[in-house]
Amino acid sequence: MMDHKFVLFFVFLLTIGQGELLSHHDAVNKLRIKLNCYDANRNNKRCTSLQDIRSDTIDWLINFKRTNNCKFVVTGGTEHAHRGKGINTHEGGYKVDLRINDCLNRYIINNFHFICNTNLGPKYLSGSGAIVLNETKYPAHFDALWPAKRVTNLSQVRRRTICK
Ligand SMILES: *[C@@H]1O[C@H](CO)[C@@H](O)[C@H](O)[C@H]1NC(C)=O
Ligand SMILES: *[C@@H]1O[C@H](CO)[C@@H](O)[C@H](O)[C@H]1NC(C)=O
Repeated sequence: MMDHKFVLFFVFLLTIGQGELLSHHDAVNKLRIKLNCYDANRNNKRCTSLQDIRSDTIDWLINFKRTNNCKFVVTGGTEHAHRGKGINTHEGGYKVDLRINDCLNRYIINNFHFICNTNLGPKYLSGSGAIVLNETKYPAHFDALWPAKRVTNLSQVRRRTICK
């Protein structure tokens, strides 16, 4: 007979691997940070929804906030208003937008690795494999990605990034 605990552990691993999808309400409660304007309804393009965000993305954000202690406003989540193809998208629950402030600027410049300048702005890699793009236009914001598969090796990330 298979060990019950072992099976439970295996199910647990599967869950973290795939990143459970959270409801808007659960994500907001977990985060305990400000959203500029929010609405669970993903069809409301004008407000931030966290409906079906990955729990891994929220866990990373909580950790990121704890390590930098900066003011934090989430200005974009899973609402149907974002471009992006492939897996690592807003739609897929892997990304949030954050409001830029001096504290976050300083923290990212001092603690993340600079990847390169892209067409949209400079891109950075954290030690844990998060990727933050400083989108300098329309309006300026940080596009923060907790990828489905993290790569922490800077030269490998550079090779895969489209730089200017
Ligand atoms: C992001 O871009 C703005 C505008 O160019 C700049 O002031 C800020 O220092 C940049 N922050 C980072 C982390 O690159
Ligand atoms: C990062 O990747 C490069 C190229 O694949 C490799 O040569 C290098 O040893 C790796 N660095 C680390 C710290 O793993």
